[in-house]
Amino acid sequence: MPTLSFKDRGAATLVSHMKAIGVKKCVQDSSGNAGVAVAAYCARSGIACEIYVPEGTSPNKIAMIEGFGAKAVVVPGTRDHCAEVCRSKVKEEGAYYANHVYNPYFYEGTKAYIYETFEQLKRIPRHIFIELGNGTLFIGAVLALEHLMRSGVIDEFPQLIAVQSENCAPFYETEEQGSSSLVEVTPKPTLAEGIAIGKPARADEVLDMIRRHNVKVITAPEDRILPCREEMAKRGFYVEHTTAAALAAYYRYCEKFGPTEDALLSLCGAGLKSEH
Ligand SMILES: Cc1ncc(COP(=O)(O)O)c(C=O)c1O
Repeated sequence: MPTLSFKDRGAATLVSHMKAIGVKKCVQDSSGNAGVAVAAYCARSGIACEIYVPEGTSPNKIAMIEGFGAKAVVVPGTRDHCAEVCRSKVKEEGAYYANHVYNPYFYEGTKAYIYETFEQLKRIPRHIFIELGNGTLFIGAVLALEHLMRSGVIDEFPQLIAVQSENCAPFYETEEQGSSSLVEVTPKPTLAEGIAIGKPARADEVLDMIRRHNVKVITAPEDRILPCREEMAKRGFYVEHTTAAALAAYYRYCEKFGPTEDALLSLCGAGLKSEH
């Protein structure tokens, strides 16, 4: 993770594609990490880049975006509003929309999370906890696991557990209410900024995957995020708040469903970026 989050995997494939088709300038919106990753790979590829981030984004993420020579535009309001402002810019200017959520090339990169897990362990753990906002890691993981199943490399689909913030949990609410379409929520502020997505753009696709594979959705208690971050640091992992939320959600899952062994938690983002 050269820019310290899993988004590097997706940015590597997306920006390679952009370079191949001759893109000279792109814009994208992000809660921070995807913007940092796209800015870095654009810098390597000589592509001009403008990243829209919501107000409240970690200053270190903004500093990294600018450090890679991209322009960072801080948009007042929520993450969802930031995406709307960016998309109107795309319409106005016709710039290439290097958005990690819409662009299928991004998922080709995030699939690598599962392939690498298999390469390193020679198997897939029985439980996999995945932080879920828009679903770039979640969708990539499901696609890769389906690929491994189809290829006969694994014969059992693991139990996936999608992690949402308790302050912004549209998929959790949808599952709780058994609704066929995404239940709208009003996001409240959360330390888990990476998954603070109230209106996920691929909601139907994610819901379809949740139901196809009996994925469980769990929320991370806000007051346990910082203690979990400290706990992870004591084990040698200095993670960002969104990653600590996965451990908080893991504990809540164990309380609800009993001891959960052989569980993989993705360390989706490093801690240096969320010093706020
Ligand atoms: C560290 C971290 N984890 C998880 C996520 C969730 O990714 P997605 O919104 O694509 O589900 C993000 C997204 O920005 C992130 O930065």
